[in-house]
Amino acid sequence: MSATIIDGKAFAATVRGKVSDHVAALKEQHGITPGLAVVLVGEDPASQVYVRSKGKLTVEVGMNSYEHKLDADTSEADLLALIDRLNTDPAVHGILVQLPLPGHLNSDLVINSIDPSKDVDGFHISNVGLLGTGQKSMVPCTPLGCLMMLRDHHGSLSGLDAVVLGRSNIVGKPMAQLLLGDSCTVTIAHSRTKDLPDVVRRADIVVAAVGRPQMVPGDWIKPGATVIDVGINRIEKPEGGTRLVGDVDYAGAAEVAGAITPVPGGVGPMTIACLLANTLTACCRANGLPEPDGLTA
Ligand code: GUN
Repeated sequence: MSATIIDGKAFAATVRGKVSDHVAALKEQHGITPGLAVVLVGEDPASQVYVRSKGKLTVEVGMNSYEHKLDADTSEADLLALIDRLNTDPAVHGILVQLPLPGHLNSDLVINSIDPSKDVDGFHISNVGLLGTGQKSMVPCTPLGCLMMLRDHHGSLSGLDAVVLGRSNIVGKPMAQLLLGDSCTVTIAHSRTKDLPDVVRRADIVVAAVGRPQMVPGDWIKPGATVIDVGINRIEKPEGGTRLVGDVDYAGAAEVAGAITPVPGGVGPMTIACLLANTLTACCRANGLPEPDGLTA
């Protein structure tokens, strides 16, 4: 069997197109422009790349982008004061503090100081609790992107066996909650899971989010299963140079899976598309307007 490739790049472009259309209608009908504030503390090169790309795509869909670049030695008090200003700024509908933060800053404290209704990352403890209890919340972008692709591919996910590899707060745990919300039977597997290959072999849906290059071989995949690979790992090529690979052995898994996301071009592009979708959702909620269809959990 040769798997269907789930094209995250194309899907993300479609999501951004829907966001863009909705933003245009908000402007025309209500004179409202959604605004996303991104806060970057320090000069981590990967974070700088992400933030630049977020800013560019935010403007492309017609939203306002507010970038706040702070020195690496910014005090916690100064960062909290900025978040406080953004919390009360009516032009700002979404706030994202780029992680990781420099070591002297308490990430939990900082994230939990964001107004939950503007927490477009879905990391605030209130949003985590709302998602866990099946209530309307802001949903973390990467798992939301995975859910959108799964729904698009399967239609209903009801009754399917899903295995989430990885138990991070950013991907694994919220992904499991979302799959449970769509009536999957969910297993969260991790580094201490016994008989991991057999656990994965039972899954109709595998979401791999462990950050270990190609750790899932093709023979762990049940024939016909859907594989969502969240990993983005840079490895050395035998001939020199580097390349990006996922947490799944793509070539091996693609021979048995029913559908699979590639790396790059799978989950990655969906994350920023969902950040923009979340910003639009936050803006609609803040203004008491209907939420866009198909862009929320
Ligand atoms: N750093 C890497 N990914 C993310 C993300 O999704 N949100 C934030 N805030 N920081 C990140």
